[in-house]
Amino acid sequence: MILHSSIETYLDAHVGDAPEAFRKLWKKSQWEMVYGHMVSDVGQAQFLRLMAQLLGARKVLDIGTFTGQSALAFAFGVGENGRVITLEKNEEHWVKAQRLLQEYPESNRISFHCGDAFMWMKESSEVFDLIFIDAEKQQYDAYYEAALVLLRSGGLIIVDNVLWYGTVADPTNQQKDAVTLRQFNQKIAEDSRVTSVILPLRDGLTLIQKK
Ligand SMILES: C[S@@+](CC[C@H](N)C(=O)[O-])C[C@H]1O[C@@H](n2cnc3c(N)ncnc32)[C@H](O)[C@@H]1O
Repeated sequence: MILHSSIETYLDAHVGDAPEAFRKLWKKSQWEMVYGHMVSDVGQAQFLRLMAQLLGARKVLDIGTFTGQSALAFAFGVGENGRVITLEKNEEHWVKAQRLLQEYPESNRISFHCGDAFMWMKESSEVFDLIFIDAEKQQYDAYYEAALVLLRSGGLIIVDNVLWYGTVADPTNQQKDAVTLRQFNQKIAEDSRVTSVILPLRDGLTLIQKK
């Protein structure tokens, strides 16, 4: 979180028509998971859903399933004929996400894969409208390069945690993930293959459109 907690609370109270499923899944993730803070909150889930809707996305790749919140958000956003593929390397998370989502009919639009995301991406020849990067921070550049190959022209990449609790903006902070994300953000800002912007929503999200 990088915003003041009162602003977070205000945003959470104004999430529009976000499905109740987003709040329920967020709460269950807090109760059932040791690292419950990793789940997208209701506002971020609504944002992901809206991005898929605005883009008219029919095929979404979700990198880092955890308890399934981002996959579910995209499942709502892609509509009846859309598909979401979600990738998770931790078998326990992979099993749990499928169990938690089974009560929602929209989850029929999701394919759950267990294994390393980068390996899956390297072997895939599918084409996606939208790709969400939210797994291992040290792998972000590898995911990004693989995503550019799998994304259609005009498609969207969304990258989570790019502000890393604000540490990227402090050049004296040499923590490993802060340094990696700082270099990643610099690369995206200078990348002529894409148009991008960083949004200070939650822990920072970058929107990247492939030219
Ligand atoms: C921050 S959580 C994802 C949160 C989820 N996207 C959401 O919006 O609630 C990151 C997940 O990525 C998974 N992960 C980490 N490295 C991975 C890899 N190399 N391949 C696939 N999944 C990975 C972790 O096990 C964890 O469940």
